[in-house]
Amino acid sequence: MFPTNFLWGAATSAYQIEGDPLAAGAGASIWHQFAHQSGRIANGDTGDVACGHYRHWAKDVALMAELGLTAYRFSVAWGRVLPNGIGAVNQAGLDFYRRLIDALCERGITPMLTLYHWDLPQALQERGGWQHADSPTWFANYAEVLIRAVDDRVPLWITLNEPWVVTVPGHLEGVHAPGLQNRAATPRVAHHLLLAHAAAVAVYRALGRHQIGLAVNLEPQTPASTSTADQLAAHRRDAFINRWFLNPLLLGSYPPELPEIFGADWPNFPASELAQIHTTTDFIGVNYYSRGLVRADATEQSLGARRIQPLNAPCTTMGWEIYSAGLTETLLELRNRYGDIPLYITENGAAFIDSVQAGIINDAARVNYLKSHLHAAQLALAQGIDLRGYFVWSLFDNFEWAEGYAQRFGLIHIDAQNGNRTFKRSAHWYREFIQNGGF
Ligand code: FCB
Repeated sequence: MFPTNFLWGAATSAYQIEGDPLAAGAGASIWHQFAHQSGRIANGDTGDVACGHYRHWAKDVALMAELGLTAYRFSVAWGRVLPNGIGAVNQAGLDFYRRLIDALCERGITPMLTLYHWDLPQALQERGGWQHADSPTWFANYAEVLIRAVDDRVPLWITLNEPWVVTVPGHLEGVHAPGLQNRAATPRVAHHLLLAHAAAVAVYRALGRHQIGLAVNLEPQTPASTSTADQLAAHRRDAFINRWFLNPLLLGSYPPELPEIFGADWPNFPASELAQIHTTTDFIGVNYYSRGLVRADATEQSLGARRIQPLNAPCTTMGWEIYSAGLTETLLELRNRYGDIPLYITENGAAFIDSVQAGIINDAARVNYLKSHLHAAQLALAQGIDLRGYFVWSLFDNFEWAEGYAQRFGLIHIDAQNGNRTFKRSAHWYREFIQNGGF
Protein backbone atom coordinates (compact mmCIF):
# COMPACT_ATOMS: atom_id res chain seq x y z
CA MET A 1 0.00 0.00 0.00
CA PHE A 2 1.02 3.59 -0.47
CA PRO A 3 1.72 5.43 2.80
CA THR A 4 -1.04 7.88 3.83
CA ASN A 5 1.25 10.93 3.53
CA PHE A 6 2.49 9.86 0.08
CA LEU A 7 2.48 12.81 -2.34
CA TRP A 8 0.40 12.50 -5.49
CA GLY A 9 1.58 14.96 -8.06
CA ALA A 10 2.09 16.02 -11.61
CA ALA A 11 5.16 17.78 -13.02
CA THR A 12 5.85 20.54 -15.55
CA SER A 13 8.68 22.94 -16.38
CA ALA A 14 8.74 26.65 -17.06
CA TYR A 15 9.78 26.87 -20.70
CA GLN A 16 7.58 23.91 -21.63
CA ILE A 17 4.31 25.41 -20.37
CA GLU A 18 4.47 29.10 -19.54
CA GLY A 19 4.60 30.95 -22.87
CA ASP A 20 5.27 34.73 -22.94
CA PRO A 21 8.95 34.03 -22.24
CA LEU A 22 9.95 37.72 -22.44
CA ALA A 23 7.00 39.18 -20.50
CA ALA A 24 7.38 41.76 -17.73
CA GLY A 25 11.10 42.31 -18.09
CA ALA A 26 12.21 38.65 -18.33
CA GLY A 27 15.57 37.93 -19.94
CA ALA A 28 15.70 35.43 -22.82
CA SER A 29 16.83 31.89 -22.06
CA ILE A 30 19.02 29.56 -24.12
CA TRP A 31 15.87 27.62 -25.04
CA HIS A 32 14.20 30.75 -26.38
CA GLN A 33 17.32 31.41 -28.43
CA PHE A 34 17.65 27.80 -29.60
CA ALA A 35 13.98 27.33 -30.54
CA HIS A 36 14.16 30.45 -32.71
CA GLN A 37 17.04 29.05 -34.77
CA SER A 38 15.79 27.36 -37.91
CA GLY A 39 15.93 23.59 -38.05
CA ARG A 40 16.40 23.02 -34.33
CA ILE A 41 12.86 22.04 -33.31
CA ALA A 42 10.37 19.77 -35.10
CA ASN A 43 7.88 21.81 -37.15
CA GLY A 44 9.71 25.02 -36.19
CA ASP A 45 7.81 25.07 -32.86
CA THR A 46 8.85 27.42 -30.04
CA GLY A 47 7.82 28.04 -26.44
CA ASP A 48 6.44 31.50 -27.29
CA VAL A 49 2.87 30.43 -26.50
CA ALA A 50 3.26 26.91 -25.04
CA CYS A 51 0.32 26.23 -22.69
CA GLY A 52 -0.23 29.88 -21.91
CA HIS A 53 0.30 29.04 -18.25
CA TYR A 54 1.95 32.41 -17.59
CA ARG A 55 -1.47 33.97 -18.27
CA HIS A 56 -3.72 31.16 -17.10
CA TRP A 57 -1.90 30.03 -13.97
CA ALA A 58 -4.89 30.68 -11.70
CA LYS A 59 -7.21 28.57 -13.85
CA ASP A 60 -4.50 25.90 -13.99
CA VAL A 61 -4.19 25.70 -10.22
CA ALA A 62 -7.98 25.25 -10.08
CA LEU A 63 -7.60 22.34 -12.51
CA MET A 64 -4.91 20.77 -10.31
CA ALA A 65 -7.30 20.99 -7.37
CA GLU A 66 -10.07 19.42 -9.45
CA LEU A 67 -7.65 16.62 -10.34
CA GLY A 68 -7.07 16.08 -6.62
CA LEU A 69 -3.29 16.58 -6.75
CA THR A 70 -1.66 16.82 -3.35
CA ALA A 71 1.62 18.09 -4.85
CA TYR A 72 2.77 19.96 -7.93
CA ARG A 73 6.31 20.04 -9.34
CA PHE A 74 7.13 23.09 -11.46
CA SER A 75 10.28 25.01 -12.35
CA VAL A 76 11.24 28.65 -12.11
CA ALA A 77 12.55 30.42 -15.21
CA TRP A 78 15.85 31.86 -13.98
CA GLY A 79 15.63 34.74 -16.47
CA ARG A 80 12.23 35.90 -15.23
CA VAL A 81 13.75 36.43 -11.78
CA LEU A 82 17.23 37.58 -12.85
CA PRO A 83 16.99 38.78 -16.47
CA ASN A 84 20.78 38.79 -16.87
CA GLY A 85 21.23 35.65 -14.79
CA ILE A 86 23.16 37.63 -12.17
CA GLY A 87 22.65 41.07 -10.70
CA ALA A 88 19.34 42.87 -10.37
CA VAL A 89 16.18 41.00 -9.40
CA ASN A 90 13.12 41.53 -11.58
CA GLN A 91 10.34 41.85 -9.00
CA ALA A 92 7.58 41.16 -11.54
CA GLY A 93 9.15 37.79 -12.37
CA LEU A 94 9.50 36.83 -8.74
CA ASP A 95 5.90 37.91 -8.05
CA PHE A 96 4.62 35.55 -10.74
CA TYR A 97 6.02 32.58 -8.81
CA ARG A 98 4.90 33.98 -5.43
CA ARG A 99 1.33 34.18 -6.66
CA LEU A 100 1.51 30.67 -8.08
CA ILE A 101 2.90 29.28 -4.81
CA ASP A 102 0.27 31.14 -2.75
CA ALA A 103 -2.50 29.73 -4.92
CA LEU A 104 -1.12 26.20 -4.55
CA CYS A 105 -0.91 26.55 -0.78
CA GLU A 106 -4.47 27.89 -0.59
CA ARG A 107 -5.64 24.73 -2.33
CA GLY A 108 -3.58 22.46 -0.09
CA ILE A 109 -1.24 21.45 -2.93
CA THR A 110 2.38 21.01 -1.81
CA PRO A 111 4.76 22.91 -4.12
CA MET A 112 7.93 21.15 -5.27
CA LEU A 113 10.13 23.80 -6.88
CA THR A 114 12.85 23.00 -9.42
CA LEU A 115 15.38 25.81 -9.71
CA TYR A 116 16.82 24.76 -13.05
CA HIS A 117 14.94 22.89 -15.75
CA TRP A 118 17.32 23.74 -18.63
CA ASP A 119 16.47 27.40 -19.36
CA LEU A 120 19.77 29.14 -18.58
CA PRO A 121 19.61 32.92 -19.14
CA GLN A 122 21.09 33.64 -22.57
CA ALA A 123 23.18 36.42 -20.99
CA LEU A 124 25.03 33.76 -18.99
CA GLN A 125 25.49 31.56 -22.03
CA GLU A 126 27.22 34.49 -23.66
CA ARG A 127 29.72 34.48 -20.80
CA GLY A 128 30.38 30.76 -21.32
CA GLY A 129 27.35 29.16 -19.67
CA TRP A 130 27.99 25.93 -17.77
CA GLN A 131 31.51 25.81 -19.18
CA HIS A 132 32.41 28.84 -17.06
CA ALA A 133 34.09 28.19 -13.71
CA ASP A 134 31.82 30.82 -12.12
CA SER A 135 28.62 29.03 -13.14
CA PRO A 136 28.21 27.31 -9.75
CA THR A 137 28.38 30.72 -8.04
CA TRP A 138 25.88 32.25 -10.48
CA PHE A 139 23.52 29.39 -9.70
CA ALA A 140 23.98 29.63 -5.93
CA ASN A 141 23.23 33.36 -5.99
CA TYR A 142 20.07 32.76 -8.02
CA ALA A 143 19.07 29.97 -5.60
CA GLU A 144 19.54 32.36 -2.68
CA VAL A 145 17.06 34.85 -4.17
CA LEU A 146 14.40 32.15 -4.43
CA ILE A 147 15.12 30.56 -1.06
CA ARG A 148 14.82 33.92 0.69
CA ALA A 149 11.61 34.70 -1.17
CA VAL A 150 9.60 31.49 -0.88
CA ASP A 151 11.14 28.87 1.40
CA ASP A 152 8.48 29.66 4.00
CA ARG A 153 5.89 28.11 1.65
CA VAL A 154 7.95 25.63 -0.40
CA PRO A 155 8.85 22.44 1.50
CA LEU A 156 10.51 20.57 -1.38
CA TRP A 157 13.30 21.97 -3.53
CA ILE A 158 15.15 20.51 -6.48
CA THR A 159 18.35 22.15 -7.64
CA LEU A 160 18.79 20.78 -11.16
CA ASN A 161 16.62 18.68 -13.39
CA GLU A 162 18.53 15.93 -15.20
CA PRO A 163 22.07 17.33 -15.33
CA TRP A 164 22.93 14.45 -17.69
CA VAL A 165 20.53 15.82 -20.30
CA VAL A 166 21.98 19.31 -19.90
CA THR A 167 25.43 17.79 -20.43
CA VAL A 168 24.98 15.25 -23.21
CA PRO A 169 22.16 16.40 -25.53
CA GLY A 170 23.08 20.02 -24.74
CA HIS A 171 26.87 20.08 -24.99
CA LEU A 172 27.98 16.83 -26.66
CA GLU A 173 25.25 15.96 -29.18
CA GLY A 174 23.96 19.48 -29.80
CA VAL A 175 20.28 18.50 -30.02
CA HIS A 176 19.24 20.56 -26.99
CA ALA A 177 20.12 24.14 -26.10
CA PRO A 178 22.76 25.53 -26.18
CA GLY A 179 23.29 23.18 -29.17
CA LEU A 180 27.01 22.55 -28.73
CA GLN A 181 29.01 19.56 -29.91
CA ASN A 182 32.04 20.06 -27.77
CA ARG A 183 33.41 16.79 -26.47
CA ALA A 184 36.37 18.43 -24.79
CA ALA A 185 34.06 20.70 -22.74
CA THR A 186 31.55 18.00 -21.77
CA PRO A 187 33.13 16.55 -18.58
CA ARG A 188 33.69 20.05 -17.22
CA VAL A 189 30.08 21.06 -17.87
CA ALA A 190 28.94 18.05 -15.85
CA HIS A 191 31.38 18.92 -13.08
CA HIS A 192 30.19 22.52 -12.91
CA LEU A 193 26.59 21.31 -12.70
CA LEU A 194 27.52 19.13 -9.72
CA LEU A 195 29.36 22.02 -8.08
CA ALA A 196 26.33 24.22 -8.77
CA HIS A 197 24.08 21.69 -7.05
CA ALA A 198 26.47 21.56 -4.09
CA ALA A 199 26.76 25.35 -3.86
CA ALA A 200 22.97 25.78 -3.88
CA VAL A 201 22.61 23.10 -1.21
CA ALA A 202 25.19 24.95 0.92
CA VAL A 203 23.08 28.12 0.65
CA TYR A 204 20.01 26.08 1.51
CA ARG A 205 21.67 24.62 4.61
CA ALA A 206 22.34 28.15 5.81
CA LEU A 207 18.96 29.71 4.95
CA GLY A 208 16.39 27.04 4.16
CA ARG A 209 14.23 25.08 6.54
CA HIS A 210 13.03 22.15 4.48
CA GLN A 211 14.43 19.60 2.03
CA ILE A 212 16.51 19.94 -1.12
CA GLY A 213 17.51 17.31 -3.66
CA LEU A 214 18.56 16.55 -7.21
CA ALA A 215 16.43 15.05 -10.01
CA VAL A 216 18.15 12.58 -12.31
CA ASN A 217 17.09 10.57 -15.35
CA LEU A 218 17.74 6.89 -14.75
CA GLU A 219 17.28 3.90 -17.03
CA PRO A 220 18.49 0.35 -16.42
CA GLN A 221 20.79 -0.79 -19.21
CA THR A 222 20.08 -4.27 -20.52
CA PRO A 223 22.59 -6.01 -22.81
CA ALA A 224 20.99 -6.88 -26.16
CA SER A 225 22.53 -10.37 -26.03
CA THR A 226 24.49 -12.61 -23.68
CA SER A 227 27.77 -11.80 -25.45
CA THR A 228 30.53 -10.40 -23.26
CA ALA A 229 30.87 -7.43 -25.60
CA ASP A 230 27.21 -6.45 -25.14
CA GLN A 231 27.43 -6.93 -21.39
CA LEU A 232 30.46 -4.68 -21.16
CA ALA A 233 28.75 -2.13 -23.38
CA ALA A 234 25.67 -2.09 -21.11
CA HIS A 235 27.92 -1.64 -18.10
CA ARG A 236 29.72 1.32 -19.69
CA ARG A 237 26.45 2.93 -20.71
CA ASP A 238 25.19 2.44 -17.15
CA ALA A 239 28.22 4.37 -15.87
CA PHE A 240 27.72 7.04 -18.51
CA ILE A 241 24.01 7.61 -17.80
CA ASN A 242 23.15 6.35 -14.33
CA ARG A 243 26.34 6.78 -12.31
CA TRP A 244 27.97 9.90 -13.79
CA PHE A 245 26.18 12.25 -11.37
CA LEU A 246 25.12 10.00 -8.51
CA ASN A 247 28.55 8.46 -7.80
CA PRO A 248 30.30 11.76 -7.10
CA LEU A 249 27.28 13.05 -5.20
CA LEU A 250 26.75 10.00 -2.99
CA LEU A 251 30.10 8.15 -3.07
CA GLY A 252 32.55 11.00 -3.59
CA SER A 253 34.13 9.92 -6.88
CA TYR A 254 33.35 9.56 -10.58
CA PRO A 255 32.85 6.04 -11.95
CA PRO A 256 36.18 4.74 -13.31
CA GLU A 257 34.58 4.17 -16.74
CA LEU A 258 34.25 7.91 -17.39
CA PRO A 259 37.95 8.77 -17.71
CA GLU A 260 38.20 5.72 -20.02
CA ILE A 261 35.29 6.96 -22.12
CA PHE A 262 36.57 10.54 -22.41
CA GLY A 263 40.28 9.73 -22.60
CA ALA A 264 42.41 12.86 -22.90
CA ASP A 265 39.29 15.04 -22.58
CA TRP A 266 38.79 13.96 -18.96
CA PRO A 267 40.28 16.61 -16.65
CA ASN A 268 42.00 15.83 -13.40
CA PHE A 269 39.35 17.21 -11.02
CA PRO A 270 40.73 18.41 -7.66
CA ALA A 271 39.94 16.27 -4.62
CA SER A 272 38.70 19.36 -2.78
CA GLU A 273 35.94 19.86 -5.37
CA LEU A 274 34.92 16.22 -5.20
CA ALA A 275 34.71 16.61 -1.43
CA GLN A 276 32.41 19.60 -1.89
CA ILE A 277 30.09 17.56 -4.11
CA HIS A 278 29.97 14.47 -1.86
CA THR A 279 26.67 13.80 0.05
CA THR A 280 24.95 17.06 -0.48
CA THR A 281 21.36 16.02 -0.92
CA ASP A 282 18.31 15.28 1.23
CA PHE A 283 16.61 13.13 -1.39
CA ILE A 284 16.91 11.95 -4.97
CA GLY A 285 14.25 12.66 -7.56
CA VAL A 286 13.99 9.82 -10.06
CA ASN A 287 12.79 10.53 -13.58
CA TYR A 288 11.94 7.16 -15.09
CA TYR A 289 10.58 6.48 -18.57
CA SER A 290 12.18 3.37 -20.06
CA ARG A 291 15.21 1.10 -20.16
CA GLY A 292 18.08 1.03 -22.60
CA LEU A 293 18.69 -2.06 -24.69
CA VAL A 294 22.41 -1.93 -25.42
CA ARG A 295 24.62 -3.34 -28.12
CA ALA A 296 28.41 -3.05 -28.32
CA ASP A 297 29.38 -0.74 -31.16
CA ALA A 298 32.99 0.21 -31.79
CA THR A 299 31.94 3.03 -34.12
CA GLU A 300 30.43 4.88 -31.14
CA GLN A 301 33.81 6.37 -30.43
CA SER A 302 33.58 7.44 -26.84
CA LEU A 303 31.20 4.86 -25.48
CA GLY A 304 31.60 1.65 -27.51
CA ALA A 305 27.89 1.14 -26.84
CA ARG A 306 24.67 2.00 -28.61
CA ARG A 307 21.02 1.94 -27.58
CA ILE A 308 19.02 -0.18 -30.03
CA GLN A 309 15.31 -0.27 -30.72
CA PRO A 310 13.78 -3.46 -29.26
CA LEU A 311 11.91 -5.66 -31.72
CA ASN A 312 8.32 -6.59 -30.89
CA ALA A 313 8.23 -4.58 -27.68
CA PRO A 314 5.50 -2.01 -27.01
CA CYS A 315 6.81 1.56 -27.30
CA THR A 316 5.50 5.08 -26.83
CA THR A 317 5.54 7.58 -29.70
CA MET A 318 8.95 8.73 -28.44
CA GLY A 319 10.16 5.25 -29.42
CA TRP A 320 10.77 4.46 -25.75
CA GLU A 321 10.08 0.87 -24.75
CA ILE A 322 7.32 0.48 -22.17
CA TYR A 323 9.07 -1.46 -19.43
CA SER A 324 7.53 -0.92 -16.02
CA ALA A 325 9.65 -3.56 -14.25
CA GLY A 326 12.58 -1.21 -14.88
CA LEU A 327 11.12 1.24 -12.38
CA THR A 328 11.21 -1.31 -9.56
CA GLU A 329 14.73 -2.33 -10.66
CA THR A 330 15.86 1.29 -10.68
CA LEU A 331 14.55 2.02 -7.19
CA LEU A 332 16.07 -1.14 -5.74
CA GLU A 333 19.38 -0.56 -7.52
CA LEU A 334 19.58 2.93 -6.03
CA ARG A 335 19.43 1.42 -2.56
CA ASN A 336 22.02 -1.26 -3.43
CA ARG A 337 24.42 1.35 -4.70
CA TYR A 338 23.90 4.28 -2.39
CA GLY A 339 21.96 3.14 0.68
CA ASP A 340 18.57 4.10 2.03
CA ILE A 341 17.97 7.58 0.63
CA PRO A 342 14.52 9.19 0.53
CA LEU A 343 13.22 9.03 -3.04
CA TYR A 344 10.54 10.71 -5.10
CA ILE A 345 9.51 9.66 -8.58
CA THR A 346 9.72 13.20 -9.94
CA GLU A 347 8.74 12.23 -13.50
CA ASN A 348 7.04 9.26 -15.11
CA GLY A 349 4.70 9.21 -18.04
CA ALA A 350 4.26 8.51 -21.72
CA ALA A 351 3.62 10.16 -25.08
CA PHE A 352 0.94 8.71 -27.30
CA ILE A 353 -1.22 9.93 -30.14
CA ASP A 354 -4.47 10.93 -28.47
CA SER A 355 -7.53 11.23 -30.61
CA VAL A 356 -10.30 13.59 -29.62
CA GLN A 357 -13.72 12.14 -30.39
CA ALA A 358 -16.75 14.26 -29.59
CA GLY A 359 -14.71 16.12 -27.00
CA ILE A 360 -13.58 12.92 -25.28
CA ILE A 361 -9.97 11.74 -25.22
CA ASN A 362 -9.83 8.08 -24.42
CA ASP A 363 -6.10 7.65 -23.82
CA ALA A 364 -6.29 4.06 -22.63
CA ALA A 365 -2.61 3.47 -23.46
CA ARG A 366 -1.56 6.22 -21.05
CA VAL A 367 -3.84 4.84 -18.31
CA ASN A 368 -2.19 1.43 -18.76
CA TYR A 369 1.28 2.94 -18.70
CA LEU A 370 0.56 4.81 -15.47
CA LYS A 371 -1.11 1.81 -13.82
CA SER A 372 1.77 -0.52 -14.59
CA HIS A 373 4.36 1.96 -13.34
CA LEU A 374 2.44 2.73 -10.16
CA HIS A 375 2.26 -1.00 -9.58
CA ALA A 376 6.05 -1.15 -10.07
CA ALA A 377 6.47 1.66 -7.53
CA GLN A 378 4.31 -0.25 -5.09
CA LEU A 379 6.50 -3.34 -5.47
CA ALA A 380 9.51 -1.22 -4.47
CA LEU A 381 7.62 0.18 -1.46
CA ALA A 382 6.76 -3.37 -0.42
CA GLN A 383 10.50 -4.07 -0.34
CA GLY A 384 11.06 -1.20 2.05
CA ILE A 385 12.19 1.52 -0.36
CA ASP A 386 11.70 4.97 1.18
CA LEU A 387 9.57 6.32 -1.67
CA ARG A 388 7.63 9.45 -0.73
CA GLY A 389 5.80 10.64 -3.79
CA TYR A 390 4.97 10.19 -7.46
CA PHE A 391 4.69 12.90 -10.12
CA VAL A 392 3.17 12.20 -13.52
CA TRP A 393 4.96 13.76 -16.47
CA SER A 394 3.08 15.78 -17.40
CA LEU A 395 0.11 17.80 -16.24
CA PHE A 396 -0.40 19.20 -19.74
CA ASP A 397 0.48 18.45 -23.33
CA ASN A 398 3.39 20.84 -23.71
CA PHE A 399 6.53 21.90 -25.60
CA GLU A 400 8.53 18.68 -25.68
CA TRP A 401 11.93 20.29 -26.37
CA ALA A 402 13.39 19.26 -29.77
CA GLU A 403 10.14 17.42 -30.56
CA GLY A 404 8.04 20.58 -30.22
CA TYR A 405 4.31 20.02 -29.66
CA ALA A 406 4.24 16.77 -31.65
CA GLN A 407 4.85 14.57 -28.59
CA ARG A 408 2.00 14.69 -26.08
CA PHE A 409 2.59 13.57 -22.50
CA GLY A 410 -0.30 15.34 -20.75
CA LEU A 411 -3.10 14.24 -18.48
CA ILE A 412 -4.78 17.38 -19.77
CA HIS A 413 -5.13 18.13 -23.47
CA ILE A 414 -4.63 21.69 -24.65
CA ASP A 415 -6.34 22.93 -27.77
CA ALA A 416 -3.67 24.71 -29.81
CA GLN A 417 -6.25 27.10 -31.31
CA ASN A 418 -8.01 28.42 -28.23
CA GLY A 419 -5.98 27.11 -25.30
CA ASN A 420 -8.99 25.16 -23.95
CA ARG A 421 -8.05 22.54 -21.40
CA THR A 422 -9.73 19.11 -21.42
CA PHE A 423 -9.19 16.26 -18.97
CA LYS A 424 -8.17 13.12 -20.80
CA ARG A 425 -9.47 9.79 -19.54
CA SER A 426 -6.07 9.40 -17.79
CA ALA A 427 -6.81 12.52 -15.75
CA HIS A 428 -10.17 11.13 -14.64
CA TRP A 429 -8.51 7.83 -13.85
CA TYR A 430 -5.68 9.51 -11.85
CA ARG A 431 -8.20 11.57 -9.86
CA GLU A 432 -9.98 8.42 -8.78
CA PHE A 433 -6.69 6.68 -8.03
CA ILE A 434 -5.62 9.55 -5.77
CA GLN A 435 -9.03 9.63 -4.05
CA ASN A 436 -8.70 5.93 -3.26
CA GLY A 437 -5.13 6.37 -2.07
CA GLY A 438 -3.94 3.71 -4.51
CA PHE A 439 -5.28 0.70 -6.37
C1 FCB B 1 12.50 14.55 -19.30
C2 FCB B 1 12.43 16.04 -19.05
C3 FCB B 1 11.05 16.61 -19.19
C4 FCB B 1 10.30 15.99 -20.35
C5 FCB B 1 10.36 14.49 -20.28
C6 FCB B 1 9.60 13.79 -21.38
O1 FCB B 1 13.80 14.24 -19.72
O2 FCB B 1 12.89 16.33 -17.76
O3 FCB B 1 11.17 18.00 -19.32
O4 FCB B 1 10.78 16.49 -21.53
O5 FCB B 1 11.69 14.06 -20.32
